[in-house]
Order: sequence, then structure tokens, then C-alpha cells
Amino acid sequence: MGDIHQITLARRPQGVPVPEDFALVRAPMPKPGPGAMLVKMRVGSSDPAIRGFLDDRPSYLPPVAIGAAIAGMSLGEVVESNNPDWPVGTLVRAFATWSDHYVIDGNALGLENVTPAPGVPLQHYMGAMGPVGLTAWVGLFAVGLAKPGETVLVSAAAGATGSTVVQLAKAAGCRVIGMAGGPDKAAQVLALGADVAIDYRAEADIGAAVAAAAPDGVDVYFDNVGGDLLDAVLPLMAMRGRVALCGMIAQYNDADHPPGIRQLWQLVVNRVRIEGFITYDFPECLAEAQATLDRLYAEGKLKPLENLHHGFESLTGAFIALMEGRTVGKTLVLV
Ligand SMILES: NC(=O)c1ccc[n+]([C@@H]2O[C@H](COP(=O)([O-])OP(=O)(O)OC[C@H]3O[C@@H](n4cnc5c(N)ncnc54)[C@H](OP(=O)(O)O)[C@@H]3O)[C@@H](O)[C@H]2O)c1
Repeated sequence: MGDIHQITLARRPQGVPVPEDFALVRAPMPKPGPGAMLVKMRVGSSDPAIRGFLDDRPSYLPPVAIGAAIAGMSLGEVVESNNPDWPVGTLVRAFATWSDHYVIDGNALGLENVTPAPGVPLQHYMGAMGPVGLTAWVGLFAVGLAKPGETVLVSAAAGATGSTVVQLAKAAGCRVIGMAGGPDKAAQVLALGADVAIDYRAEADIGAAVAAAAPDGVDVYFDNVGGDLLDAVLPLMAMRGRVALCGMIAQYNDADHPPGIRQLWQLVVNRVRIEGFITYDFPECLAEAQATLDRLYAEGKLKPLENLHHGFESLTGAFIALMEGRTVGKTLVLV
């Protein structure tokens, strides 16, 4: 077999990543050792968490070394296997690298078998019917304990996770308020079924806008953003409300200057629980979560929102657009 293509880290980004931070290189085709598999990438995933791995600082995974392939989730097909549990032809989702072919073994982080239902586009299993949907479900129900009739507020509501949270929360009988940047994204949030969409960029006082939309307080805040929005929302939580901290994309491009939180006292006043989570810390929930996603999709209640790019080399541009805040839905690359 010939060479493979990889996207490597050329230098550490300063602020929003730019093309020069990355390099498209060729490398020899890797050989799977005992127990390992060679996987051909079919769907590449662009995730905000990758921005954290590009800085030389601790994240929940080690930093990517200069010259190394970028680390990220991928959905691919096993094309050579030394592991009987993962035979040739199996579709697998796992934490891998930005390589059009890569070697993993049975212990790869997040390794899962993907069995697409007839007629369902494969890329949905990297989006709302995959890690994105699992994250939305875990944050909403395992961490946020959302119940029918409660008010759920979600930030980056037109993004990958946020757009899925809106739909899962509506399907569960919650009242849903989505915050998104710009009128087009706000319109998209309403089209997904949210009861209220707030264009936070157009609001001089975002706290007043949320308070007007949630007069009885917010029972569950599903936060993708952190920063000033989180600070504005904390005093607006209902008694015994829950804040599910999914991510803090507002500070990923400028990790040296994290914004301050001044409203923690309100957690005491209203007995609010705030909890950060990582989806794969909840293995006991994932089968139920996946079954719910599959059912809602089949019932037409979950419509995966995606922006699709084509060709392995488009991963870089797709990631930059994501980190510029320009995207709607899940950013995926069809290889
Ligand atoms: N805990 C976990 O296991 C887990 C798993 C997956 C993802 N996450 C986290 O979930 C969050 C959402 O991830 P996602 O994959 O669903 O991505 P996403 O929401 O599609 O991310 C992009 C959106 O984030 C918003 N954003 C707000 N401030 C931004 C800034 N300073 N720069 C760029 N974008 C900004 C933008 O929407 P607006 O224009 O509406 O602001 C942007 O379109 C991230 O924080 C991610 O790290 C966590």
C-alpha cells in the first residue's frame, strides 16, 4: 500500500487557529501490530476540545506535540485487522488522529462499533446520533436531571451539541430557551423547536433577556460556552437548579485569560448544583442514550444539524471555521 496523508501541528496557535498552524504531510502506511487494526477514515470530526490539545498546557488529554498528527474523534472502517473482535469491514468510532489511515487497538479511547440503520447517513453517527448526541443526553439527563415541564436553557444552541440539546429537551417535555450568536442562528434554534431563542449578541443585557424568557428561573442550564454568559445566568437559576458544564468554548482561543465568575454566591442562595462532565465518564448511560437518539431520529423528532465538508484535507479549514464561531450544527468532513 502507498503513503497516507496526515494533518500535523506545525506550530502552536496564538488565538484563533490559522492555516499556517497546520501541515498536510505524507507518511508511510502504518502496519497494525498484534491485537491492532488499520482503520481508513470515513468521517472526520471537528471538535472545539481539539483547540485545547494544541496548547502546551494540561487538558483532559495530553497536548499534541509539534510535528505530530492532530488528535481527534473519527469514524472509519477497519481495512486490516489483527484483532478478531474488530474484523475487516467493521465500522468503528474512536479517538484517533487526523490521518486518512490510522492504527488503533481494542483499548482505543471511546472505541465503539457503529452499525448504521438502513437509510441513515453514516455521518449522523459522528454527530447527533453519535458522540454529539451522547454528550447532549448525558449533560441533559445524567448531569442536569432534566424533567418534563422544567425550563432548560442552552448556550451555543445552534451549534453541534446545543442544537441536539434543544431537540432532546423538547422531546422530553421541557420548556427550552436557546441562546445563539446572530439572527440567523436564533432563527435556526426556533426552527429546531425551542420555545424562545435569544440572539445574545443583540442583547445589551443578556441577564434581563433570560430573566424575561424564564420568569420562574432556569431549572437546567446546559452550558457549552462559559465566560460572561455563565456569569449572567448563575443568578437566574431556579431553586435547586442544575448547571451542566459541557464546555467553555468562549475561552479556548485565549486560555491565558479566562473570564472571571462573580456570581457564585447565588449558588448558595438557590441551592444550585454545578457539575462539569465528560461524556465517556458515563459508560453506564450510553446504551440508553444511544437507544433514545435512534428512536427520536426514527420518529422524526431528532433532525441532525450538520455542516459538511468534503475531502480529508478540508479538516483544517473546517476546524478553523468552527473556532471562528462561524458554523451551524456539527462540523464534519466526509473522506
Ligand atoms: N464534556 C464533553 O464530553 C464534551 C463533548 C463534546 C463537546 N463538548 C463541549 O461542548 C461545547 C460545544 O461543542 P460543539 O462540538 O457542540 O461545538 P459548537 O457548539 O458547534 O461550537 C461552535 C459554536 O460555539 C459558539 N461560541 C461561543 N463563543 C465562542 C468563541 N469565543 N469562539 C468560537 N465559538 C464560540 C459559537 O456559537 P454562537 O455564535 O451561537 O456563540 C459557535 O458557532 C464546547 O465547549 C465543547 O468543548 C464537551
